[in-house]
Amino acid sequence: MKLKDKVVIITGGAKGIGFGCASVFDRHGATVVILDKDETAGADAAQQLQRGHFRACDVTDHAAMHSVIDSTADTLGQLDCIVNNAGWHPPAMSIDDTSVEDFDAQVRLNLTSTFMGCKYALPHLRKTRGSIVIIASFAGELGQPMASAYSATKAGQLGLTRSLASECAADNVRINAISPSNVDTPLMRQWAASLPNPQSALDAVCDTQPTGRMASIEEIGEIGAFLASDEASFITGQSILADLGASLAYGVKRIERAAT
Ligand SMILES: NC(=O)c1ccc[n+]([C@@H]2O[C@H](COP(=O)([O-])OP(=O)(O)OC[C@H]3O[C@@H](n4cnc5c(N)ncnc54)[C@H](O)[C@@H]3O)[C@@H](O)[C@H]2O)c1
Repeated sequence: MKLKDKVVIITGGAKGIGFGCASVFDRHGATVVILDKDETAGADAAQQLQRGHFRACDVTDHAAMHSVIDSTADTLGQLDCIVNNAGWHPPAMSIDDTSVEDFDAQVRLNLTSTFMGCKYALPHLRKTRGSIVIIASFAGELGQPMASAYSATKAGQLGLTRSLASECAADNVRINAISPSNVDTPLMRQWAASLPNPQSALDAVCDTQPTGRMASIEEIGEIGAFLASDEASFITGQSILADLGASLAYGVKRIERAAT
């Protein structure tokens, strides 16, 4: 119960990593407010929690974000954490096929929304000495071919994490990121389904990790819960590489499958 009596907003909390965070935070005692543009999945997700709430919100909508964050803090009396998670990875696309409009849309969804979540939550978080968790990506740490717009937004989130952490340290608000390699989510499955051989794409993604598997959404949720809790009271401005060794060593990672 490391988050007992904490009030937490999770963007994109209806599915995938966001829902993993919502269920783990709930299990640790938090009151969780899911923000999502998918009203059916969002309402369903909140119902599965012990202390779940759902507010329909498109995170690209500046006024909606501001209003839902303020009203959550007003209604529930406090805000202790925001998890900026909502985002999207487009199908593999070269820079030649990526329009400036595509790039701007990625920035708006993945990066500007994170900036807005931080900006509008901070006045409330200063009062509670709260924290911010940002779901960035391995792609922001290492880069990813055929995903230049996505990787740029994720690298931008890491810059925001470090800069804000330093700016807000004196307010006792901590800001940290998680950079997962591969997580089994609806987005991951949609991406694989867009390729000619979805199963071999998923196998290749699994083999990025030396153990040959992706993370579960709950494993990422547990890292988020740790970062949001007082157990992480001396950690700010960091990005946790959640990759089960994908960034380690040189060459082929999953020896058994490669040898067969
Ligand atoms: N799945 C992975 O392997 C992986 C790896 C690294 C980083 N990430 C990051 O994790 C985050 C979540 O990814 P996921 O795989 O869980 O995705 P997902 O598509 O499975 O779930 C995303 C959730 O966000 C919501 N959402 C999307 N756009 C929204 C908007 N404009 N407003 C409100 N809600 C919106 C969706 O409705 C959905 O509920 C993303 O930022 C992604 O870049 C994912």
